[in-house]
Amino acid sequence: MRKIVLAGNWKMHKTQAESLEFVQTFLSQLEQTPAQRTVVLCAPFTDLGILAEKLRDTRVNLGAQNIHWEDQGAYTGEISGPMLTEIGIQYVVIGHSERREYFGETDKTVNARLKAAQKHGLIPILCVGETEAQRANGETESHISSQLDLDLIGIDQSQLVIAYEPIWAIGTGKTCDSKEANRVIGLIRSQLSNQDVPIQYGGSVKPENIDEIMAQTEIDGVLVGGASLDAKGFARIVNYQ
Ligand code: PGA
Repeated sequence: MRKIVLAGNWKMHKTQAESLEFVQTFLSQLEQTPAQRTVVLCAPFTDLGILAEKLRDTRVNLGAQNIHWEDQGAYTGEISGPMLTEIGIQYVVIGHSERREYFGETDKTVNARLKAAQKHGLIPILCVGETEAQRANGETESHISSQLDLDLIGIDQSQLVIAYEPIWAIGTGKTCDSKEANRVIGLIRSQLSNQDVPIQYGGSVKPENIDEIMAQTEIDGVLVGGASLDAKGFARIVNYQ
């Protein structure tokens, strides 16, 4: 049975005060949420400590948005596995297209970060997906296949979540057609050795389209950016029909 994982990725949004306000409303909306759905909030590093305290003994898991491959060292601006596990973090987003595009993340560094996450018992949410130009050129399948080949070298697929995020659908309001997302996610699964890896869809997921997305047979959850910033809206996503 594949797990259903519904994750919010706040990116560079929310101060500690704002994150606490969110959590108060969000938790109050989860009373009817089916127990088998895994709910994750991936917050900025500065929010994680206080959120870990607030979310202890709740059903909400916490995720970070990056992890360095070394445990410590002269790496200004980076955060390591032991720093995350000390405060009870369970998930970490790795290889998001914004990291790949704006911060020089490569498949090699993505692979190193995935290994570090697993070494420390964190479950990585690995993001893959094509640009608009790659899609137009018919390179969607080959690009994603190459990302998976390189990113997953030496990775334990029993401790992994993958997010299919077509880059042209991120933050643009242009959601990928749910049947097309289902097709690509099926292809991703066919390349994995472990058929139980939860594979999410990400890219302009919102309360208005979540039911249709989650009705697809291959889609095991969502990674939500913009729409995860609103507590009631994200709760509606988590409580999809
Ligand atoms: P979005 O972002 O929901 O704002 O499109 C998704 C993501 O980047 O994970």
